[in-house]
Amino acid sequence: MQIPATGLDNDTLFNTLEGFRARDLTWRDGRTWAYVYDPGADAEAVIKKAFTMYLSENGLDPTSFPSILKLENELIAMASTHLGGDAKTVGNFTSGGTESIICAVKAARDHARATRPEITRPEIILPETAHAAFQKAAHYLGVEVVVTAIDPKSYKADVEAMRAAITENTILLVGSAVSFAHCVIDPITEIAALAAEKGLLCHVDACMGGFLLPYYKRLGEPVPDFDLSVPGVTSISMDFHKYAFAAKGASVILYKDKELRRFQMYACSNWSGYTIINSAVQSSKSAGPLAGAWAVLHHFGEDGYLDIARRVCEGTKRLCDGINAIPELEIMGVPEMNLFAFTAEGVDIFHVSDEMKARGWFIQPQLCYGASKENVHVSVNPACLQWVDDFLRDLALSVEAAKGLPTSPLVAIVQGMFGSMDLSQGIDPGAVKQMLELGGIKDGALPERLAEVNQVLNALPVPAREQLLVTFFNDLYTPAHDQPTRNGVVAAS
Ligand SMILES: Cc1ncc(COP(=O)(O)O)c(C=O)c1O
Repeated sequence: MQIPATGLDNDTLFNTLEGFRARDLTWRDGRTWAYVYDPGADAEAVIKKAFTMYLSENGLDPTSFPSILKLENELIAMASTHLGGDAKTVGNFTSGGTESIICAVKAARDHARATRPEITRPEIILPETAHAAFQKAAHYLGVEVVVTAIDPKSYKADVEAMRAAITENTILLVGSAVSFAHCVIDPITEIAALAAEKGLLCHVDACMGGFLLPYYKRLGEPVPDFDLSVPGVTSISMDFHKYAFAAKGASVILYKDKELRRFQMYACSNWSGYTIINSAVQSSKSAGPLAGAWAVLHHFGEDGYLDIARRVCEGTKRLCDGINAIPELEIMGVPEMNLFAFTAEGVDIFHVSDEMKARGWFIQPQLCYGASKENVHVSVNPACLQWVDDFLRDLALSVEAAKGLPTSPLVAIVQGMFGSMDLSQGIDPGAVKQMLELGGIKDGALPERLAEVNQVLNALPVPAREQLLVTFFNDLYTPAHDQPTRNGVVAAS
């Protein structure tokens, strides 16, 4: 495929783009309970307008675009007020939870390099429910990860397990508010006190919960302290592109003061081009997400968000009660915001998820890990609330339909294959390909029903799961070499 020899007219161009979306999730109907945080049509229009106003401005150099700096400084001030900051609190806008977390881990690493130079292998301590973004950050930044057990009933961090994991190389303790997998708030006060006692940094991952939890608190929900007002918390991340409903690419990382935040900054004048000074990971970047986030906060205001919190809180409770009333299903722990996970007994949860898909619902399977059994994850958007009764009815039907469906025979095969295998050197790529094909995955294409694939992944040890997924994505992103260009020219091979 090549770039078209001549440009397309707008109709053709946009119709082509629209056509590409035919198989995408139709999230606007409110039946998608993952991935998209639907702000509703009015807010979406406001966000789009602000986003496109700032589409082409470059956030690389805020001194050339003072309005970008103003937007960011206002957003950070609002985030700080929202999350218990004070006059010393500083922070930056980033592209998402992962970037905020990478920044927090980089700041912790470079802070340790400056203040504890004897540490050559810095370690961060993560409860097993901490988001994978911390492991990714550690992987990118050359930091070791120490994963600690959680309480198997509440799914919250076990602070004594974290204490026991501290060594002379520890630089950072992490807690979540809320955790993605089970939507519970770790004992932040205790984790932060432990960090302070040991002279360590403490990051709170409030990417998911930071925005709505303060509204939950105002509604009288029992929200424990989790933010910068907790003694010992040194940084916190919060995503606007989750439950503030901003367009994707919008998160903040806040630090207790500038002395710590300076370790997040990166400067380079050690080359022949313009001097680089970056506040976060990206360099050139659209200011669209920033303007979109600023706009959505001003669109809804505190009243609007309080109303959303009230509605999703009430809807989530109805859903959880309804799910616990289905004998085979059980909500995991006690969700503290508008997400939850449920497990199944006597029926395969992955078949339940497929059956729900067949009935037009999108929910998200999660594999077993540590204290957490395989389960299905659900995020409750305001747009989903109209469907609570229909969802529960179809879930009960899906459980009945899934009862007769078998576990894939592949599960026993892979368990046999991997049971005694040394995975430290990786798995033979040929075996990985073969396994993908056995699971019905070929050339990056997934089968319609995913229960078999999930059952197999669920049965595999973690390194094997990861290698399988990398192979799958490496195939999925295959360039469209063989396709004709849009005005008919076939690419020369
Ligand atoms: C608790 C938590 N932290 C971090 C992240 C990562 O955020 P992102 O996907 O924006 O990079 C998520 C995403 O769901 C999350 O739930």
